[in-house]
Amino acid sequence: MKAALIKEFGGTEVLQYTEVETPVPGTDEVLVKIHATGVNRLDHYLREGKMMPDIPLPHILGSDAVGEIVTIGADVDEFAVGDKVMVVPGYPMKKEDQNITPITLAPSYGIIGAANQGTYAEYVKVPAKFVVKDISGLSSELAATLPMVTVTGVRAVKEVGQVKAGDKVVILAGNSGTGSFNIQVAKALGADVFSTTISDSNIDFIKELGADKVINTKKEDLVTAVKEWTDGKGADVIIDNLGGEFFSKSIEALKPKGVLVSMGFAASPKVSFDVRGLFFGQTIIRGSIMGTKEDLEFGLDLVRQGKIKPQLGATLPLSEANKAHDLLVNGGVRGNIVLKP
Ligand SMILES: NC(=O)c1ccc[n+]([C@@H]2O[C@H](COP(=O)([O-])OP(=O)(O)OC[C@H]3O[C@@H](n4cnc5c(N)ncnc54)[C@H](OP(=O)(O)O)[C@@H]3O)[C@@H](O)[C@H]2O)c1
Repeated sequence: MKAALIKEFGGTEVLQYTEVETPVPGTDEVLVKIHATGVNRLDHYLREGKMMPDIPLPHILGSDAVGEIVTIGADVDEFAVGDKVMVVPGYPMKKEDQNITPITLAPSYGIIGAANQGTYAEYVKVPAKFVVKDISGLSSELAATLPMVTVTGVRAVKEVGQVKAGDKVVILAGNSGTGSFNIQVAKALGADVFSTTISDSNIDFIKELGADKVINTKKEDLVTAVKEWTDGKGADVIIDNLGGEFFSKSIEALKPKGVLVSMGFAASPKVSFDVRGLFFGQTIIRGSIMGTKEDLEFGLDLVRQGKIKPQLGATLPLSEANKAHDLLVNGGVRGNIVLKP
């Protein structure tokens, strides 16, 4: 099969479109012919080699896949050849961990394309337990934008943040892949949403996603603006995909016993804060990583109801994976980038 892979870490030029062996599914696995695959920031971090530099090379990147089942392992009875499916973008790499709840806590939990060979390819093999029927009703391009951001958003906002109707929720970086879904999940759960950007040109888009209030954090202070928005009380929940200075500001912007969900580091992985703000405020800090099959199914149901809209920024052939990474690195594309094998 054809795949876009890296044989060394580096710039976008290290992505090569080449011939590799087609995977052969095990008895509990299915082989999915990929119709479209998504590009995530994780792929860029992995390609650079700054994250997980021990990955054996050559390596196929990619976590998001939609397509159809073409081969079924002998022990799989819940799917048929031809079923249109979406792959859960992370799962335990060891079979004995597959029943741990939530699955993200399994010791061998890994993200496809990081812990094993990924989806920048014509085919991927996956345990049948971590495949869902594609109920989105969308084209493959649109559907391929969904898996990672959907599981991440549902888990971070609904399960870890425990956002509920009427909550005042801050979703940082509303223009980002993750932020744009976090906003939509929070709105679907009935929350009031405050969001941020570092560019005025993103404000209208973030409002269109459902945010009730958006500020440019280069022009306005996050803490002051959130306090104003909440009549001085502070936010119930903040979903932080930025890290850096936004982490400490989030602690300050929360109400007493408010919840800070840390789920990314687009600004910086290094944070520092004054512990007095933490314990005086009795702040609850929780981490959130990826999500489960149930999170994906919950999110897809919201998509079907029209409460979450996929954000497709650009579609390129798989042979141009390096161009897709250029677009990701250089910015300027709003929404997810999709590759078509
Ligand atoms: N926990 C999980 O399971 C999970 C899953 C997926 C991703 N993530 C992580 O979440 C983070 C975001 O990923 P993504 O794919 O959503 O990113 P993305 O779509 O590439 O967007 C990056 C965002 O970061 C903002 N940004 C960059 N530098 C900034 C700075 N110095 N100050 C303020 N804002 C800044 C940009 O703001 P503007 O749009 O305003 O320019 C942009 O919205 C990454 O660290 C990623 O690894 C975590």
